Amino acid sequence: MSSPVFNIQPIGRFNGESEPVKRPKEIACFSYDDKHEFHLDDSSLQWYYPPRLGADLSKGFDKFDKHDESIDEHLDSLLKAIAAHEKEEGKKIDANIVTWRGMMTKIMSAPFEDRDGFIEDNYEFKQFSKEQQNKHQRGRRGQFSPEVMTYWGYKFEALSCLPRPWGEVSREFIEHRDERIVSNKAQYCSVVRTGIGKTVLCLGGEVDAIWDSKPTQKGAPINWIELKTSAEIRDDRSMNNFERKLMKFWIQSFLLGVPKIIVGFRSQNGILTKLEEIQTASIPTTAAKRGVRSWDANMCTNFASAFLDWLRNTINDEGVWKISRRAGSSTIEVSRVEEAGHGSILTEEFINWRIKL
Ligand code: A3P
Ligand code: MG
Ligand code: MG
Repeated sequence: MSSPVFNIQPIGRFNGESEPVKRPKEIACFSYDDKHEFHLDDSSLQWYYPPRLGADLSKGFDKFDKHDESIDEHLDSLLKAIAAHEKEEGKKIDANIVTWRGMMTKIMSAPFEDRDGFIEDNYEFKQFSKEQQNKHQRGRRGQFSPEVMTYWGYKFEALSCLPRPWGEVSREFIEHRDERIVSNKAQYCSVVRTGIGKTVLCLGGEVDAIWDSKPTQKGAPINWIELKTSAEIRDDRSMNNFERKLMKFWIQSFLLGVPKIIVGFRSQNGILTKLEEIQTASIPTTAAKRGVRSWDANMCTNFASAFLDWLRNTINDEGVWKISRRAGSSTIEVSRVEEAGHGSILTEEFINWRIKL
């Protein structure tokens, strides 16, 4: 039997007004500490405090405390947080799909991005990132290795965040942020309920920082901050590149309900030269007004809505299913790789909890 296939092209059919989207509401959260150990709390939440311009983003690279990303963490942490939430509520969440925000970003950007392929086994995904490869190529031509260029993003976060609200941190700490060892092991992850078209989603994803404090009212909007670095805009070419990047920035933040993105522009030598605050909600209209032709927000949403409808109809039986797109391909393919069971995607802990419910 041939595998069901969803055609991304022609993308013109996704034109028009946006399908309804649900505002993401945080239902749970969890943290990884500085050893990347899991905690069912907000202990790794960080507060935004503007960094000093002129900082060298390469500084401290030799001491970078880097998380080993070769270990596949599957959905384990997300499932732990969901189970804890369900225990509290005494009922199952109502989502049709549970995944990491990164996977949904791949799907929503699919009409305008064909460099990266992906594979998702049921809810789990592995991506073959051409982005990494491109960074390697760029690195070889330039002065900085791809590892250093990746470090710039984490260094920017370290320069822009505080572990507690501004009033509770000493001036000394703020002034010496530049000397602290940079690590990407700690993370705060938000778990939200959201929806695109008719599909209800439960997404988990990292949030970089908060502006003020979390509201006490459950489900109220949170003033999250997404931090991003980008090369200075010097000509039409770098402007076009930045406008393309804004699509990913927008999708990534929109999916978790992050209202503001702080972009740290850097020189070719990795010196932080400028900060720009961008309202996530304004990105689609600004792009449309500027006549950006490389992407369109409504088409991203309408594509995701149609694809998720199709996916829910196609994956109609138990077992393990694989969702994949080859780099450069204009189709997304679904195939059943196991007739029963759940592969190693769901944890024993989660299954045992669900049996009890
Ligand atoms: P920048 O995006 O500022 O370059 P995030 O922005 O999602 O919070 O990620 C923080 C940093 O992790 C990024 O900073 C980048 O350095 C690194 N990173 C994230 N995804 C990456 C990818 N696909 N390839 C290479 N580096 C990545
Ligand atoms: Mg982040
Ligand atoms: Mg970031």
